[in-house]
Amino acid sequence: MKAIQTQDYSIFFNQQSYLALNDYLKSTNFSNLFVLVDSNTSDLCLPHFLAQVETSLTIEIIEIEAGETHKTIETCLGVWQTLSDLGADRKTLLINLGGGVVTDLGGFVGCTYQRGITFINVPTTLLSMVDASIGGKNGVDLGVIKNQIGIIKTAKMVLIDTSFLNTLSSREMRSGLAEMLKHGLIYDTPYYNKLTQLKALKIEDLDQLIYESVIIKKDIVEQDPTEQHLRKTLNFGHTLGHAIESYYLNDKNKALLHGEAIAAGMIMEAYLSSELLNFTKEDLNKIKANTINLYGKVDIIEADYAPIIDLMKFDKKNEKGIINFVLLEAIGKAKTNCQATNNLIINSFKFYSA
Ligand SMILES: NC(=O)c1ccc[n+]([C@@H]2O[C@H](COP(=O)([O-])OP(=O)(O)OC[C@H]3O[C@@H](n4cnc5c(N)ncnc54)[C@H](O)[C@@H]3O)[C@@H](O)[C@H]2O)c1
Ligand SMILES: [Zn+2]
Repeated sequence: MKAIQTQDYSIFFNQQSYLALNDYLKSTNFSNLFVLVDSNTSDLCLPHFLAQVETSLTIEIIEIEAGETHKTIETCLGVWQTLSDLGADRKTLLINLGGGVVTDLGGFVGCTYQRGITFINVPTTLLSMVDASIGGKNGVDLGVIKNQIGIIKTAKMVLIDTSFLNTLSSREMRSGLAEMLKHGLIYDTPYYNKLTQLKALKIEDLDQLIYESVIIKKDIVEQDPTEQHLRKTLNFGHTLGHAIESYYLNDKNKALLHGEAIAAGMIMEAYLSSELLNFTKEDLNKIKANTINLYGKVDIIEADYAPIIDLMKFDKKNEKGIINFVLLEAIGKAKTNCQATNNLIINSFKFYSA
């Protein structure tokens, strides 16, 4: 697969990734190389990765705990301290090898350590390949509030080796698929239709679909890198989805993966679209059926509505206290800065649960 060139960095695929990385290491003069992993990618991805890297630089590994609840400033403190203790300087290269938690947090550490060092993202989950590792959004959660602290700066390169997906659970694969469905719903109808016809998430079939998702995200980000208008559309499903994710984050039995929460959010925001825009009931029912078929239904009871709605006040698209949704005019066409009444939002929960 051909490398994808963005305005300021390149995204390489599979074996070509390692050729590009090794060329880059040969032509640069870094002091040392740090690889950030989590407790799973350390065992499942690091050996394969290190076997491909050709360099005489000293390589240090920093490992963090896996999972969203560790995407915090406290984890950053540990990583900053370890970098410092092990002699990282301004010419250190940081490679983030993991899912969205590692690339979001590692990117933030890379942007802030000694006011910024070079970092490269090597995504190892489907979600981070198609979404989190691309576009330069880095950051951490503040308590349960998602991505409240962060910075926008792109990685030096992104290396997508889809063979890492061989060890990913089917639940995590489905979580990543949610962001791909989102890309289709906001930007590309044929792409959405192709995804809904998938019988199984097989890596052979996914390679091309991952590539297309990366192109969609890249196209959107390039037209609006600082999220003034078009880039907001990537938040479809996320206004309600992030609030739902936050609400259940610390509940061991009900905690959702990011994509699972976004899947629920997309159904509810499709409902708002049908009430507020000309989004057809036929498409609404199609999205609901497809999505529930894949993800099942989150058991949201009426007592949860108010606290979840309350969490939406932290959404980063809000302006002057007004909650702004991204809604759909049609499949493949999104509209930003839409507002909904509290009653309508409650109805969207009821529609989802019905
Ligand atoms: N920056 C962005 O633009 C952006 C976009 C979308 C999502 N995100 C963020 O990404 C995060 C979700 O990413 P995620 O779903 O990758 O979560 P994650 O990083 O927590 O990874 C999911 C789980 O899979 C494990 N894992 C990683 N690679 C593996 C592999 N190859 N085999 C087996 N297990 C593996 C991880 O250790 C973890 O337990 C959220 O925090 C979300 O907010 C960011
Ligand atoms: Zn997301």
